[in-house]
Amino acid sequence: MRAKIIGTGSCLPDRSVTNDYLSTIMDTNDQWIQSRTGIRERHLVSSQQETTLSLAVNAAKAALTDSGLLPEQIDLILVATVSSDYITPSAACMVQKELGAHRAVSFDINAACSGFLFALNTVDAYFQAGIYQTALIIGVETLSKIIDWSDRSTCVLFGDGAGAVVAKASEGGMIASLQGSDGTGGDILTCKNRTNNNPFVSTDANPDYLYMNGQEVFKFAVKKVPECIQSLLEQAGEDASHVTYYLLHQANYRIIASIARKLKLPIEKFPSNVDHCGNTSAASIPILLDEIHKEGKLSEGDLIVLSGFGAGLTWGAALLQW
Ligand code: UT7
Repeated sequence: MRAKIIGTGSCLPDRSVTNDYLSTIMDTNDQWIQSRTGIRERHLVSSQQETTLSLAVNAAKAALTDSGLLPEQIDLILVATVSSDYITPSAACMVQKELGAHRAVSFDINAACSGFLFALNTVDAYFQAGIYQTALIIGVETLSKIIDWSDRSTCVLFGDGAGAVVAKASEGGMIASLQGSDGTGGDILTCKNRTNNNPFVSTDANPDYLYMNGQEVFKFAVKKVPECIQSLLEQAGEDASHVTYYLLHQANYRIIASIARKLKLPIEKFPSNVDHCGNTSAASIPILLDEIHKEGKLSEGDLIVLSGFGAGLTWGAALLQW
């Protein structure tokens, strides 16, 4: 049995922040941001009530409704995030409590922008082993709280949001998957955890924020993702042209366009929402999947490739049948 997606949902914070608005609070402009990234606006948390948990729960409820399953029918909850509200308990356990999904084993996965894909692969492995039959997978981030708002080269790129899917063990669904990691490249995209200030450590207690070497991340993505997708399709014995959509992590439209060119595929096969969501890290793939599903763009039997890449370094791709 493999993982078949039977429901999707998403939730964006209420407040949408345009490039023009950002240009009133920092030295940037719409032209620079749009031409470098394709981003026009992003949704950002704007009250104490909007949290990683609230976004995740709203997306999860929508996915459950779409799937027809009840919370108590879920065996496993995985939340992919690097911006949980708490170090512990996990976001997944907090979601479990809010939903009343009392049977679900729940834990988080930290694989940055590849997190949703790694979580989907983990669920698929559990299903293949026959351990669980139903799962709720959520990608969620409130990156706005770990971004350095004085660094214009990173803060304009990211948005907050959540996407979720419900998967069940089925004959259809996942066909093949690949994932990889390279810790030796980890220092190009980092955010350090709280500094140890126990009585035995002397330290400056400044909080750390997201740091990114944008050009190195760009080079990594446009090299690694096409290679990964090609290997995935070879493994599955599938022709690239038979795939209806390639849903890539939504970091930057120039990265998506470059990957489409390298794969020699029409850009129409690469839906994108980076223009209105920005880069929502682990949430970007499930938010995009929910959008195109709700727009009626997916038909039963369609082949879809999902591919994520990001900090770690991490990357991966999955081929599945809708
Ligand atoms: O999930 C993975 C996430 N990571 C990514 O997707 C990042 C991938 N990298 C990128 O997309 C690009 O590297 C960026 C969009 C981040 C940056 O584009 P770039 O073409 O590599 O720009 P740059 O960093 O080389 O900066 C070019 C210029 C600099 O000015 P000078 O030194 O040439 O005078 C920057 O100071 O652009 C300036 N700049 C800005 N100007 C206006 C940097 N940020 C901004 C800004 N507004 N927000």
